Amino acid sequence: MLTTPQVELIQNSFTAAVTARDDLVTDFYQTLFLKAPSVRGMFKEDISDQSEKLAAILQLAVQKLGDLEALVGPLHALGAQHVEYGAEPGHYTAVAETLVECLARAVGPDWTEDHAAAWNNAFTFIAQTMLDGADMAAPRQ
Ligand code: HEM
Repeated sequence: MLTTPQVELIQNSFTAAVTARDDLVTDFYQTLFLKAPSVRGMFKEDISDQSEKLAAILQLAVQKLGDLEALVGPLHALGAQHVEYGAEPGHYTAVAETLVECLARAVGPDWTEDHAAAWNNAFTFIAQTMLDGADMAAPRQ
């Protein structure tokens, strides 16, 4: 589902994005809460710990994209945990769109449609795998 050139585009653009903006995840949460204010209450008031955890999991996912099988177990567990947080399928779309928007903003003029397509593929896989894990933990009716 992800070609080798797409994995490289993702890895290189992630490095470029975090180099350009060390506050990438802060920008992500600010943008998400503007776009989808209803999710603000799901998070703690102080999201600095949360920001570090998101940055760490993104870093791990980006490193392992060449070996998607290795990500399935951890993403199932993360998706199951998200049932308890109240995350619903529609929220994943908002999260993925916001992450792509913030990455594009951080990368700047070097961002292309190929970057968008590669990242969208990656987030489709991540969200679908997390939702599969959520279904295994608490099957939807
Ligand atoms: C790309 C998909 C996502 C990834 C990679 C991700 C990643 C994470 C990680 C790593 C944590 C910390 C878990 C821990 O404490 O060990 C977390 C917590 C959380 N996530 Fe997500 N998440 C994603 C999607 C979502 C969605 C769609 C929602 C729904 C709005 C959401 C809401 C939350 C909440 C409410 C917490 C707990 C925050 C707190 O304790 O204050 N996440 N997420």
